Amino acid sequence: MEVIVLPGPDDVARVAADVVAGVVRRRPGAVLGLATGSSPVGVYAELARRVAAGELDLSGVRGFALDEYVGLPAGHPESYAAVIGRDVTGRLGLDPARVHVPDGRAADLEAAAEDYEQAIAAAGGVDVQLLGIGANGHIGFNEPTSSFGSRTRLKTLAPRTRADNARFFDSPDEVPMHCLTQGLGTILGARRLLLVAQGSAKAEAVAAAVEGPLTSMCPASALQLHPRATVVVDEAAAARLTLLDHYRQVYARKPAWQRP
Ligand code: GLP
Repeated sequence: MEVIVLPGPDDVARVAADVVAGVVRRRPGAVLGLATGSSPVGVYAELARRVAAGELDLSGVRGFALDEYVGLPAGHPESYAAVIGRDVTGRLGLDPARVHVPDGRAADLEAAAEDYEQAIAAAGGVDVQLLGIGANGHIGFNEPTSSFGSRTRLKTLAPRTRADNARFFDSPDEVPMHCLTQGLGTILGARRLLLVAQGSAKAEAVAAAVEGPLTSMCPASALQLHPRATVVVDEAAAARLTLLDHYRQVYARKPAWQRP
């Protein structure tokens, strides 16, 4: 796993955007795995800036969101379909017809999950999967004890996740109990993983994911199984890592040909 420790959130956004831009430069029709939540917002903003400046063209890419709430009314501003439309598709100049979000309003959620897996496969798989991390170590909505082999399916949100996400809703009771999320097995199928984390609230989860044991109690530890996982964190989110000096040295001496 590559661990890149940078001074602050703006640096995290810039370096993560470099990785995504590098993938799209090599493959203009790349398939992007799109995360929601606050962690990737800066990355999307940086990509949007580059698109607006004419430095980057994302019009050919396809996108698959990681997850979606179940039970929100159509058009709810905090549904991930709405968030992706607002923060990603529009701002990055993606073609809305090529951006997919699990259907959390489907009458048959099991079928919707299966359809989503098939759509990802039909697109040829995800080239780069952007990820945030929950304070309890979740990725997507794969809460602790999620199977490393799991595929897209219905999950129940952990109380901690519902509490953390309550800030996006008018009241904590409004946060849905359920979601559809890509599984850890689905996520591990992406050709490249790119996890971003900022702030001290994520420090423990980052350390557990990167240096802790491989355990379903920290779903993000699944990144240790992936041959090409990059974790980009700011100083605050890196604070609990024990091999900090090593990560800094590796990154400082990274050969130019390995850079995005
Ligand atoms: C959310 C999302 C995840 C996200 C995580 C962290 O609930 N389902 O994809 O990575 O929890 O959220 P945030 O980035 O807002 O801290």
